[in-house]
Amino acid sequence: MLKLPLKIEGLLVRLRPLKTSDAEDIYKNVKDKIVSQYLSQVPYPYPKHLALKYIKTTQRNRRLSRSLTLGIVPCGINRVVGLISLMNINKQNQEAFLGYWLGYKYWNQGYMSEAVNLMLNFGFVNLKLHRVSANTFEENKISQRILKRAGFKIEGKAINKICRFNKWHSEIQFGLLDSDYFKNEKYYRV
Ligand SMILES: CC(C)(COP(=O)(O)OP(=O)(O)OC[C@H]1O[C@@H](n2cnc3c(N)ncnc32)[C@H](O)[C@@H]1OP(=O)(O)O)[C@@H](O)C(=O)NCCC(=O)NCCS
Repeated sequence: MLKLPLKIEGLLVRLRPLKTSDAEDIYKNVKDKIVSQYLSQVPYPYPKHLALKYIKTTQRNRRLSRSLTLGIVPCGINRVVGLISLMNINKQNQEAFLGYWLGYKYWNQGYMSEAVNLMLNFGFVNLKLHRVSANTFEENKISQRILKRAGFKIEGKAINKICRFNKWHSEIQFGLLDSDYFKNEKYYRV
């Protein structure tokens, strides 16, 4: 079981494990094509029943220490409006993959930049990860800026890796090592 501190909280958002009662909020926020177009694992259209099934999967994966998915709750809004995950946690290599999305209404307010910093802090400090990886569609410039601001470096590009909506997309591959993360105080002070 992945143990969490009492609070994972910044100035704008807090992160918390999902409850089955979050299903409606997750569905409402992820169902828009503008949100899921660059999320290769999320179906579009998004079937309503999938949100509850997904929450249960996140609870099981946390119990088994495989992945950690947390809901993003902005201050003053007592609802989950997006998700952030450290997936495929590999104990031997001390590695995990970062993924995230936010409901469209909540974009451009700095929520995800802060959520990424909070999650990285948890990953490097609490889980003692050596490396966090993240991939984005080449077209997803907003996400690439978030990763670069958080200290990630581009490590490669996989050409025409993903087929989404009958079109091939290249993938930009990012990585961040603990040594680089801890070198720069601005990244780990959320
Ligand atoms: C990518 C995504 C998560 C970004 O979330 P977000 O919360 O809007 O991101 P942020 O607000 O932190 O940063 C976005 C911009 O807002 C700006 N911003 C930051 N704080 C701000 C504030 N307080 N007020 C206004 N704008 C702000 C940032 O500077 C940034 O602008 P820039 O990239 O031009 O520099 C969101 O667009 C999304 O969910 N997209 C679909 C899913 C997706 O692509 N997921 C990633 C897959 S790899």
